Amino acid sequence: MARVGILTGGGDCPGLNPVIRGVVRKGLLLGYEIVGIKNGWKGLVENETVPLDLESVSGILSKGGTILGTSRTNPYKKEGDAQKVKDNFKKIGLDALIAVGGEDTLGVANKLAKEGLNIVGVPKTIDNDLSATDYTFGFDTAINIAMECIDRLRTTAESHHRIMVVEVMGRHAGWIAIESGIAGGADVILIPEKPIDIEEVCEILKKKHSRGKIFSIVTVAEGAQFKEGQMVLQEQKLDAFGHVRLGGIADTLAEEIEKRTGYETRVSVLGHIQRGGTPTAFDRILGTRFGVKAIGLVKDRKFGRMVALSGTKIIDVALDEAVKALKTVDMELYETAAVFFG
Ligand code: F6P
Repeated sequence: MARVGILTGGGDCPGLNPVIRGVVRKGLLLGYEIVGIKNGWKGLVENETVPLDLESVSGILSKGGTILGTSRTNPYKKEGDAQKVKDNFKKIGLDALIAVGGEDTLGVANKLAKEGLNIVGVPKTIDNDLSATDYTFGFDTAINIAMECIDRLRTTAESHHRIMVVEVMGRHAGWIAIESGIAGGADVILIPEKPIDIEEVCEILKKKHSRGKIFSIVTVAEGAQFKEGQMVLQEQKLDAFGHVRLGGIADTLAEEIEKRTGYETRVSVLGHIQRGGTPTAFDRILGTRFGVKAIGLVKDRKFGRMVALSGTKIIDVALDEAVKALKTVDMELYETAAVFFG
């Protein structure tokens, strides 16, 4: 009987449990034994596993987060850890491993696959910034949460005649900001792909004011930057994968808007609330389809590949493709959003 491992790495997101459920359910039908690796790559470094059977995946479809736990451990960052991963892969008796993650987790998966391990990747991230897939699960839930927050902030902004600056996640891509902003009817949307021109932002807000719209919503991506300026970093700290921790641009932006326009301005940083809670139907279905396809790739011995969404079809692509470049917001979408700014 083949033994197949599954791990979830990087930031969690709604839709991970549907993937695990899909892998286990289809895997058992194929006669495989499924082993859960705990806490991402950390679990393979430390040999921490849990058996996965029908019972373990019962009732998890609607649950956010991941029943396996996660970490931002990168085994290539610490001398000897990558070797430990390979040794434990053998010790656990894995015939194949399904790695569910974003660019970091899949980057590690790609390296290990090149070094000879049988690995299949599944893309996940609320940021939707992975090339080679049209959508990642987690994103739809995140934009729906952000949209609901914008709707709620609008009513209080209106009552108090205020500007509300809403900061959303997304790292160096503006997908969450642009899509939640369009859906929530934001008056200005600021994304990393377009440096912020503070004068232009204030002009837009003043123009709206002069037309009688005495409140506005400004949606800003955490990775947005001012023109010729420095990115605003949260305590300048790095995470375990070596990325800067973003966050905090909304405060600087709000201060500047209030100073330049005289309008009372408040800030809401949505933070991890965008990653929490129950997945939308879209994310449950995409996660399920990815999980079932991933174990299918194991069956067909298509290693070094990643499942992906192309239009309405689930396909597989080389892991190399997936981690090659960041998928950023296309300007056509931005132009659609911009129709509603002025
Ligand atoms: O990549 C997903 C994400 O939520 C980003 O949008 C955000 O910048 C980052 O993770 C936050 O990471 P952490 O959970 O380590 O604070």
